[in-house]
Amino acid sequence: MRQLASKWLKTKALLHHPYTAVFIPETCLYSEEQLRMMLGRHTFVFIKPVKGGGGSGVMRVAKERRGYTCTRMEKTYRFDHFKALVDGINRLRIQRPYLIQQGIQLASIQGRPVDYRVKVAKKGDKWVFRAVVARHARPGLVITNLCKGGTQLKGTEALRMIYSQRLATRKRREIADLTRRCIPVLERRFPGIGQLGFDYGLDQTGRVWILEVNTRPQ
Ligand SMILES: Nc1ncnc2c1ncn2[C@@H]1O[C@H](COP(=O)(O)OP(=O)(O)OP(=O)(O)O)[C@@H](O)[C@H]1O
Ligand SMILES: [Mg+2]
Repeated sequence: MRQLASKWLKTKALLHHPYTAVFIPETCLYSEEQLRMMLGRHTFVFIKPVKGGGGSGVMRVAKERRGYTCTRMEKTYRFDHFKALVDGINRLRIQRPYLIQQGIQLASIQGRPVDYRVKVAKKGDKWVFRAVVARHARPGLVITNLCKGGTQLKGTEALRMIYSQRLATRKRREIADLTRRCIPVLERRFPGIGQLGFDYGLDQTGRVWILEVNTRPQ
């Protein structure tokens, strides 16, 4: 079955299509110049390996009132100016390509961010939906990955804890519709894919964002 490690290729496929592009946070390949530009446009960004997994190497970089911060796992590093930030990131980064993505202020439960994983698999010529699960970050972390101590909840349960019954139902439908919309776009671009895992973030206003798509979802 076809698998695709590059987050950048999958993101570009969805960006290519106006129907799905609006759900993708602004994303570009990492460089010092792009980081400067992205931090000019967004109060915080996520930096992640193009071929990553399990939240490893993921950093949250924020513009503060004075200087910048970079959070990786439970550590937050402070920097007075941009050049120091870049040096700091370069020390944390290993020599492989990274992406910069607009940070989404994820809706949270007990102050810990929540996101959603929707798995679909192809059975014959039909795509079938598997469970929607929510992942709740371990205290102190900015990533929700289960292998980094995140807790799994039922998707409907998490939505219900964050929103009213009506809004929760609407959001669940929105996530399902968006998934149905993304599948043909990805399948056309990457024929042969047999399963997909969509990571969705809902921000504090309830807007749905696609954080990433996995071709080998756990
Ligand atoms: N743009 C973003 N805004 C807010 N949070 C983000 C953003 N991108 C990633 N995150 C958080 O970081 C976590 C890890 O990021 P991501 O899913 O992109 O990489 P990964 O988990 O390493 O890859 P995989 O899901 O293939 O294991 C997400 O589950 C989410 O909690
Ligand atoms: Mg992920």
